[in-house]
Amino acid sequence: MPYTPAADRYSKMIYRPCGKSGLKLPAISLGLWHNFGHDTPHDTKRAICQAAFDLGITHFDLANNYGPPPGSAEEAFGEILKNDFAGYRDELIISSKAGYLMWDGPYGEWGSRKYVIASCDQSLKRMGLDYVDIFYSHRFDPDTPLEETMLALDHIVRSGRALYVGISSYNSQRTREAHAILTELKTPFIIHQPSYNILNRWVETDGLKDTLADLGLGSIAFTPLAQGILTKKYLNGIPQGSRAAQGKSLDPAIITDRALASVRALDAMAQKRGQTLAQMAIAWVLRNGGITSALIGASKPEQVVDCAGAIHNLDFTPEELAEIDRISEEKDVNLWARSSSD
Ligand SMILES: NC(=O)c1ccc[n+]([C@@H]2O[C@H](COP(=O)([O-])OP(=O)(O)OC[C@H]3O[C@@H](n4cnc5c(N)ncnc54)[C@H](OP(=O)(O)O)[C@@H]3O)[C@@H](O)[C@H]2O)c1
Repeated sequence: MPYTPAADRYSKMIYRPCGKSGLKLPAISLGLWHNFGHDTPHDTKRAICQAAFDLGITHFDLANNYGPPPGSAEEAFGEILKNDFAGYRDELIISSKAGYLMWDGPYGEWGSRKYVIASCDQSLKRMGLDYVDIFYSHRFDPDTPLEETMLALDHIVRSGRALYVGISSYNSQRTREAHAILTELKTPFIIHQPSYNILNRWVETDGLKDTLADLGLGSIAFTPLAQGILTKKYLNGIPQGSRAAQGKSLDPAIITDRALASVRALDAMAQKRGQTLAQMAIAWVLRNGGITSALIGASKPEQVVDCAGAIHNLDFTPEELAEIDRISEEKDVNLWARSSSD
């Protein structure tokens, strides 16, 4: 069936300036980390992307290694771009990244100029694109001079492969150093992509959130639902097919009874606010405009619809915020701590 996007899609989303740049991002963006590899039927991937675009979600986030196998999410998205979103390229913000292991040998990961530029070329080819809107350094590389990685990003923009650049999971100090280099080069560095959710607050304790505000950078928070923990999904055990059941990035061992007690209490709060728990978790990330966009993942189109409903109530009373802090106090699930602290 040919796809025609919903005519009213832009009335269903809010768009926020990405830091001090002229680029606006949807408050909710869709990431293709999981559920876009060979283990998911193509029709499901299409339905998820179409549901997102129909809701005014204009931003789709990828990386070289998303799959499985690595690269297959970009290939699948390339198909969707060609067959479903043809004619809408200028309405989309497409991002990709390089940093994690992509191919064998010493040039297949981290932050060398050799790897970052070759990886960007491979990503463009897989997606069938001339350029991406945002290209990221996916993680800080302790063994490559930061200037080399930043110059590679600068080259990617100057050679027309990307419009803007970003960094992901860099800590506050590294972010300031990257910003200083890219400012000197006049590279359009506009965004940071950290993990952030009610159960994982490293961006606050590290000072990164304040740093981003100080530097006028935008931010897009990945795993706002803690990979699904901040939904009702796991309250009665681990459902078949769920991420925790797949033995990939979400270790079921972290879904303890204590964690679930917190999730139950948060769910009761969400109900009082007239939201689903997923919606409240996303609204919390977006509260006070401190984060530009919440970067969700989804295994079904219905999840995208539910998550997008978060924008209808982004405000919290001080009492609600204090209660969320109290409930979540003892949990801190940051699987990306290493890439941010090196
Ligand atoms: N820069 C980085 O290093 C980095 C790292 C990780 C992720 N990311 C980016 O962030 C994106 C999002 O990450 P994520 O997928 O972990 O985010 P997430 O939104 O925290 O988790 C998504 C998962 O939550 C469940 N879910 C979503 N909406 C739901 C709903 N309304 N009700 C019930 N369950 C729901 C689904 O789990 P089931 O699959 O179990 O149904 C879904 O796969 C990635 O795709 C990627 O673009 C970046």
